[in-house]
Amino acid sequence: QHQRYIRNFSIVAHIDHGKSTLADRILELTDTVDKRDMQDQLLDNMDLERERGITIKLNAVELNYKAKDGHTYEFHLIDTPGHVDFSYEVSRSLAACEGAVLVVDAAQGVEAQTLANVYLALDDDLEIVPVINKIDLPSADPEMVRKEIEDVIGIDASEAVLASAKAGIGIEELLEQIVAKVPAPTGELTAPLRALIFDSVYDDYRGVVLSVRVFEGTVKPGDKIRLMNSGSEYEVTEVGVNSPNPIKRDMLMAGEVGYITASIKDITETRVGDTVTAVSNPATEALPGYREMVPMVYAGLYPTDNAKYVDLREALEKLKLNDAALEFEPESSQALGFGFRCGFLGMLHMDVVQERLEREFNLELITTAPSVTYHANLADGTQKKVENPSDMPEVASIRSIEEPFVKATIMVPSDYVGAVMELCQSRRGQFVTMDYLDDSRVNVIYKMPLSEIIFDFFDKLKSSTRGYASLDYELDDYQESDLVKIDILLNGEKVDALSFISHRQFAERRGREIATKLKKLIPRQNFEIPIQAAIGAKIVARTTIKAYRKDVTSKIHTGDPDRRAKLLDKQKRGKERMKSVGTVNVPQEAFMAVLQTD
Ligand code: GTP
Repeated sequence: QHQRYIRNFSIVAHIDHGKSTLADRILELTDTVDKRDMQDQLLDNMDLERERGITIKLNAVELNYKAKDGHTYEFHLIDTPGHVDFSYEVSRSLAACEGAVLVVDAAQGVEAQTLANVYLALDDDLEIVPVINKIDLPSADPEMVRKEIEDVIGIDASEAVLASAKAGIGIEELLEQIVAKVPAPTGELTAPLRALIFDSVYDDYRGVVLSVRVFEGTVKPGDKIRLMNSGSEYEVTEVGVNSPNPIKRDMLMAGEVGYITASIKDITETRVGDTVTAVSNPATEALPGYREMVPMVYAGLYPTDNAKYVDLREALEKLKLNDAALEFEPESSQALGFGFRCGFLGMLHMDVVQERLEREFNLELITTAPSVTYHANLADGTQKKVENPSDMPEVASIRSIEEPFVKATIMVPSDYVGAVMELCQSRRGQFVTMDYLDDSRVNVIYKMPLSEIIFDFFDKLKSSTRGYASLDYELDDYQESDLVKIDILLNGEKVDALSFISHRQFAERRGREIATKLKKLIPRQNFEIPIQAAIGAKIVARTTIKAYRKDVTSKIHTGDPDRRAKLLDKQKRGKERMKSVGTVNVPQEAFMAVLQTD
């Protein structure tokens, strides 16, 4: 029977432990990709992924492996991202698989996202196949890492594959272990169709392309399908697999991972996590699907050109198909006009969304400084969720403000524990526990305000531990804090998009810092621009941008026309990323200024 020879697995790991490189070697060894078409990190096919050297999207491929037992196996491999902001991609991938290949760096050992990802896989009852990678490194200590996997994760690592994805060592052994250890999928071919949508993407020609794992039944072109939660119905135009380029198939059957197209143009009807069934013989119950993601931060996204508002909405809808964690709703700002309040899983996610909107949809955007969601407890006994600092109610009507706290797990060599604790404490962290993982490494847990961790905490953590610390965090609860809103006034007018929330203790200092920063960032104009920071009615900082006198180009004495042109060009480009707020032109950087803490 066909299913006996299918293996569905994801590759998971902490960032940079070598998943994508390992996937490359597997593609090569199975001749899935022609030698001449092979390139590094082949499955990271988005430009953004290649430029940044990170995986952002899950990617499913089918490959055939002729095992030592003489049979040819159909593997469905899903490469996943390692960064905490994209763990939703990991959990969706895992739900389509029976096994997970867990890659651990032989020199780094178990890190924070190794644990987080392996727990996700264990939650789904997946078979874990551990791989100790990078054994070619001089600093590799595979035996210690093997012990760490057993002690810290608590899984058997006695047969862990020792591999070097770079040097191509251990790849065949890994494939043999996948055959031997990962269970074959089950599921009746004759049962009503149930296929889980784990990803989707919009294609201008084919409409929405659904990535699915078929759990029961079969699906083929011409079939009438229904999306069980949305209720919408379509006729299948094509089914197939990616290998890694799309290959049409006559049908997809229970146990397989592939794609379905059905001329779906109405993008709001498709949701990741929904179940596809057949109209003629529908399943009674949908598959469990996924839990909704709760955004960690919110920011405003505005087109620099107000006329592009509708384009931005369409782009967000299309992007959401491919980025299920993205949330958005319309918002308007006095300063910026019409735009969207968008929810993200973290700063990297926000960055990626902005870049994808600009590149894939040809938009130019202004983003406001991200903010966490605050809960304002009002004097009348109600609670208001505040996703945008400028929506914070007047001080007089607020009884208290609560902010989200996370449980932060930091793994670090014991020498750096002091530095880590100092950093956490300075960010209002509350110590929870500390455990020794082995003789030299410690797992430190702090409860911290999300607002203190989300922006530059990771960079600070890395620099204070010479890059050795790894971090994972999850939302914990809301706690009351002494918070205040700080408003920024330009030319005497409050700019809603520049308001921010701060702990009272730091508020005046932050107000002064930001006024100074804005003075540097906002270009001079032919009139004076006063900048003020205010808490309620109290002005806590004041500075002034002087009126300009000279043309910038007059500074260039050489008269080099090339340089002059470049300077004017730079000025022009800079200007494009500006929004006029009243009479003042405010550049993109200024909206982010409130993030930078010194
Ligand atoms: P993300 O997808 O961003 O989470 O990273 P990843 O886990 O996919 O890691 P990737 O494959 O991009 O590899 C990270 C870095 O480690 C790259 O510079 C690789 O060249 C390197 N690398 C991967 N495998 C090996 C190995 O076996 N030995 C050595 N020395 N380097 C390796």
